[in-house]
Amino acid sequence: MDLKQLNAFIAIADLKSFSAAASKTGLSQPTLSRLLKQLETDMGVELIDRYHRPLHLTEAGAFFYDKISAILTEIDTVTSMTQRLSAPSASLNIGFVPSVLYGLLPEVIAKLKQSNPDIEVNLKDISSYQQIDALKSGEIDIGFGRFAHQDPWIQQILLRHERYLVALPKAHPLADSDEQRLIDLANNRLILYHQTHLPISTTAIPVKPSNDQPSLEPVTEPLLHLFAQYGISPFMTTTVSDLQVALGLVAAGEGITLVPASLKTVRTEQIVYRRLLHENATSPIYLHTLKDFIHPKIPDLLGAIYQVYERRGITYRKQSFTSQG
Ligand code: BEZ
Repeated sequence: MDLKQLNAFIAIADLKSFSAAASKTGLSQPTLSRLLKQLETDMGVELIDRYHRPLHLTEAGAFFYDKISAILTEIDTVTSMTQRLSAPSASLNIGFVPSVLYGLLPEVIAKLKQSNPDIEVNLKDISSYQQIDALKSGEIDIGFGRFAHQDPWIQQILLRHERYLVALPKAHPLADSDEQRLIDLANNRLILYHQTHLPISTTAIPVKPSNDQPSLEPVTEPLLHLFAQYGISPFMTTTVSDLQVALGLVAAGEGITLVPASLKTVRTEQIVYRRLLHENATSPIYLHTLKDFIHPKIPDLLGAIYQVYERRGITYRKQSFTSQG
C-alpha cells in the first residue's frame, strides 16, 4: 500500500467518478483504475462498487475512507509543519475574529512592531473554528478567537475574559439605566450572531466563564447559553450572519444583543451600551497556535499583549507556551 494508491482511492471516493477523479489528480483513468485495483488486491478487500453509477463505497470502503482520510490530513499537516520548521516564514500571519479587531489587536500589533521594526504582519479575518484548519495548513501562524478547542495539534492560551455589554437602541426604555439584569432583557428580541462561528464537529466546546478549563457540554449558541445559565429563555430571537449585522439591527430598533465590551464605540449615534450586572457574563479571548511548531515571533507577540494589558490595567494570568519549534 502506498500514498499514490491511497490518494487515488480518496479522489475516486470523493468525486464518485473515474473521469472526474482523473481531471482532479492529473492522472489518466487507466492509471487511477490500476492504483485502486492494486490497493484492493493488497488489502484483499473490495473498496468501491464499480457496478453502479455513480460509483459508491462498499461498507468496508466507507470505513476505510473515514479512517484513511483523517490519516492523510495528518500527513499533510506534518509535512507542512516540517517544511515550516526548516524554513520559518519571515512574516507573521495572524487569524482573528472581528470582535478582537475592535478591541486591542491593533494596539498589540503596534507594540510588537516597536520591538520588531522589520516584522511583516498579515492579518486574516477567520472564524474561531476555521482558525484550527488554517493553523494546521500553515495559512496562519497564530489565531485569536473566542471559543476553546480540543485538538491534539493545537495549544491554546486563555488571554482574558471580557465583560459582555448589552447593546440597546438609543430610544429603548431600558437605555436610561446604567446596569441591566438578563431577566429584564428577556422580553426583547435577542439578536444572535455566532451562527457562522459555531463548529461543525463536536470536538469544539463552549466555555464556562467562571472556570478557565473548558467544559464538556455540547456547544450551544453563547448568548443563549448565558441566558440559560440563569434559567432564562429570551422570548424571541433572530439569527444573523455576523456582529456588524447584529449591531445594524439594534441600530434600526429591531432588537437587542450582547457584545464584548471592546465594541462599545461602534454605532454610538444609534446604540447605547450598558453593563450587565452579572459578573460571569463574559466572553473569553483565546490565543491558538500549533503545539509542535511556534513561529519564532510568537513569544514576542505574547509579550506585547501582556505589555498592553499592563498599560491598560487589565487583569490577566501570565502563561507561556508548552514547547517551541
Ligand atoms: C484582547 O482584547 O485582549 C486581545 C485582542 C487581540 C489580541 C490579543 C488580545
